[in-house]
Amino acid sequence: MNFGYHDQDGLMTTDEKSEPDKYSLQLYLHLISSVETENKDIVEIGCGRGGGLSHIARNFPIASALGIDLNKRAVRFCNLHYKIDGLTFVRGDAQKLGLENNSCDIVINVESSHCYQNMTLFLKEVFRILRPGGYFRLTDFRYDHEM
Ligand SMILES: C[S@@+](CC[C@H](N)C(=O)[O-])C[C@H]1O[C@@H](n2cnc3c(N)ncnc32)[C@H](O)[C@@H]1O
Repeated sequence: MNFGYHDQDGLMTTDEKSEPDKYSLQLYLHLISSVETENKDIVEIGCGRGGGLSHIARNFPIASALGIDLNKRAVRFCNLHYKIDGLTFVRGDAQKLGLENNSCDIVINVESSHCYQNMTLFLKEVFRILRPGGYFRLTDFRYDHEM
C-alpha cells in the first residue's frame, strides 16, 4: 500500500471492510475525486497488491480497470483475490507498457514512480496510451528525478 491521506473534513468514505486500509484508500479517492469516472477506462500503473484499484472498481461506475505492476507475484495475488467485472491485472513495466495508443481515459499512479529509472519514458508511455482529453493523476513522495 502507500503512506495514505487524511481528510480532516471527512469527505471521503470507505466501506466497513476497508476500515484497516482507510487512509491508503483515501489517497486513491482524493486522487480521482476531481475526475469524471463514469464509463471511463482506467489504468493504474504500479498497482501493487491491487487494493486501491479494486476499491475504485467496486465503488465507481467505471467501464473498466486495468492494473499493471512489474512484480509478477503482486499481479498473481491481484488476479487471485479480486474477481470483479471489468477489473484485470497484468504484469508490465511503467517505462514500456504493452498497451495500445489512445486506449484509456484515466491513468493513475500512486507512490510508484520513485522506483522508475527513467521518468521521461514513463511519462511518454502515459501520454501515448491516454485518449485525447484523458487524465493523468500521480502522487508520490519524491520528485528529484533527472528529466
Ligand atoms: C509502494 S508500491 C505502491 C503500490 C500501490 N500503488 C499502492 O499504493 O498500494 C510501488 C509499486 O510499484 C511497482 N513498480 C516498481 N517499478 C515498476 C515499474 N517499472 N513498472 C511497474 N510497476 C513498478 C512495485 O512493484 C510496487 O508494487
